Amino acid sequence: MKTGANDILESLSPASLPDRAASYALDGAKSLYRLAMRRMERTQDKVQSEYDGSHWQKILSRKAWRDAKSLSDFLIFPDQSVRLRKVDGKIMRISAQQYYRYRLSALGELIARYADGASRIVELGTGYGYNLFSLLHSHPDWTLKGFDISPNGITIGREIAAHFGVSGKVTLDRIDLTDSSDPNLAAINGEVVLTYFCIEQIPYDVRNVIENIIAGKPRRVINIEPNAEFLDLKSPRDIVSLLYIRSVDYQTVLFSTLDQFEREGRIRIIARERMPFAPAINNDGFLYCWEPL
Ligand SMILES: C[S@@+](CC[C@H](N)C(=O)[O-])C[C@H]1O[C@@H](n2cnc3c(N)ncnc32)[C@H](O)[C@@H]1O
Repeated sequence: MKTGANDILESLSPASLPDRAASYALDGAKSLYRLAMRRMERTQDKVQSEYDGSHWQKILSRKAWRDAKSLSDFLIFPDQSVRLRKVDGKIMRISAQQYYRYRLSALGELIARYADGASRIVELGTGYGYNLFSLLHSHPDWTLKGFDISPNGITIGREIAAHFGVSGKVTLDRIDLTDSSDPNLAAINGEVVLTYFCIEQIPYDVRNVIENIIAGKPRRVINIEPNAEFLDLKSPRDIVSLLYIRSVDYQTVLFSTLDQFEREGRIRIIARERMPFAPAINNDGFLYCWEPL
């Protein structure tokens, strides 16, 4: 762990049992309520309206990067709201600002561990490229390419890159991962590919998306996505996570599908690990790193 993350870790202690119990109960109740109401299926239209039409639209109209002194200042949101988050594998009560400061080095170290020495990373479903700008901060020698279906996400990423003078290092373009004829699938040929809570948004097309990625002939793939398959349902936190994932209709089959691809001799899985960090208690991620055969 780099000094920045270590400094933060040393100043924290794990959340108390009553604190965790109250937060899990509240979160679980919210998810049960969502499940009891008739939830809307996570179709492509719903995802487009949530991301392109809402989250990224708001970020584009605010243009917060214009007020930031530096790229890292922009990435570490000045948000003091304190809640339970996962930090270094433990549940801590921590502000968003402290969490994102820690994450800036933690993500760089995690991806470097699996990038097999590559200095180019391609993120699919990059949004506006938050992860790419974070990776550039920890690895200034890397070149980062991001693809997303959202025009607003791409516009934001390009504006941020131009504003901080890194347009030659971070580029964004459009892709639809469900479309096997998308011309930008060619951009992953021979590259190390990352997905980070992107396939979660495509629950009805997971197998097809993996097929499209394999057909693009990447060198290696790192999927960091919601974990609904390797949960310990004796653990309250895992129950909370599963209820949340089901209630918002995220994908639940990615890792078992990759295991099946491995059994079919189509890919080789290099690593499986639980994510050491998460901004909330209710969408715990899992990492698979694999190569097509
Ligand atoms: C939860 S966001 C994650 C963004 C980014 N990976 C991050 O961690 O900040 C999911 C992203 O997936 C994108 N997405 C959804 N369906 C997609 C598709 N079929 N092809 C490409 N991107 C897609 C959305 O537009 C959105 O930007």
